[in-house]
Amino acid sequence: MARTNPTYDRLAQGYLFPEIGKRTRAFIAANPSSKVMRLGIGDTTQPLPPTVISGLASGVQKLAKIETYTGYQDDSSGMPAMKTALLERYKAMGITLDLSDIFVSDGAKSDSANIQSIFDIDSVIAFQDPAYPVYVDSNIMAGRNKEKFVYMPCTEANGFFPSLPKSKVDVIYLCSPNNPTGAVATKKQLKEFVDYANANKAIIIFDAAYSAYISSPELPRSIYEVEGAKSCAIEINSFSKEAGFTGVRLGWSIVPKEIVCEDGEIGKLNRLWARRQNTMFNGASNIVQEGGVAVLSAKGQEECYKVIDYYMGNARLIKAGLEAKGITVFGGVNAPYIWMKTPNGMKSWEFFDKLLNEAHVVGTPGSGFGASGEGYFRLSAFGIRENVIAALDSIQKNLKI
Ligand code: MLT
Repeated sequence: MARTNPTYDRLAQGYLFPEIGKRTRAFIAANPSSKVMRLGIGDTTQPLPPTVISGLASGVQKLAKIETYTGYQDDSSGMPAMKTALLERYKAMGITLDLSDIFVSDGAKSDSANIQSIFDIDSVIAFQDPAYPVYVDSNIMAGRNKEKFVYMPCTEANGFFPSLPKSKVDVIYLCSPNNPTGAVATKKQLKEFVDYANANKAIIIFDAAYSAYISSPELPRSIYEVEGAKSCAIEINSFSKEAGFTGVRLGWSIVPKEIVCEDGEIGKLNRLWARRQNTMFNGASNIVQEGGVAVLSAKGQEECYKVIDYYMGNARLIKAGLEAKGITVFGGVNAPYIWMKTPNGMKSWEFFDKLLNEAHVVGTPGSGFGASGEGYFRLSAFGIRENVIAALDSIQKNLKI
């Protein structure tokens, strides 16, 4: 008799974004004539730039000829051209990696969910609170005891960057620019965690999926800009937000061979991740990787950064619009998320309903990212400009606070 996996019963009821979708659909069904403006999920809306489209198209064309056809890749970690282009990107940032440190994937969501599998089931795991829900949920699904999770509150008082864990932890998830708070860690802040990790043989899983949104030169785009990080940090990144690949799917993780963990020889984590990926993943699509190489070309970067500027223009408008309404906001600078304090101390979901009912705007309740997100609300800058303007106009006119 087949039995279900009991660890899934320990998850919070539903995944955050489908729940938002469900409530939004219910509102539209009840109010069919109203136009709903979506600033909820961080989903890109702008078309891919021409160089990236050409890259993808050449990936398709290569499949049409016997001379250029490719099937399975030699290993799942990515096409040589893709990995070399990533290596060069890090080199330009002053970071030396080896090609075998790089694992190309179908996106940061899968990598940030799967990476926990290479750590002991009894590991003590620390999470920023609030955080992208995938980190906690994937550890629960793996069977870890959530009573042992360590939550590191990110609050207004600490500038939404956590203090070091008070007790010894084994694995620490950090995300900068942060989803959901839009806070960006400085080198000094990351250095404290790197020093802690090296001293405790702990590992940092650094989610840099929004790094392309950093424009201030002093802020680190990669944890490897911080001295000592290569012996304690895994970095995960993605083309979703940098190049509009939310539907195309492409990302990468870096597991440097220098990483030291409590047991096992140097290089073991890299070997385990390679083993995991080669067993459970057949590599990112060869068509999509051609698109990825195009993203990383000089022309591709120039074009992608124009789209990023467009989204950051939205972020500036949202921030200014909410401030004009008297709402306290954070983030939205060097990050595509605006983290607002709910007016009059409302609960996050209560404010979700109010914003939807009064202004017809969809956002994301802060409490969906963790207990410390209660009383906050996230708006995404990835919308179409006209919708963003219409949403702000409606908030200004219709939201009663
Ligand atoms: C978000 O809105 O938090 C993200 O876009 C979701 C994701 O990247 O999976």
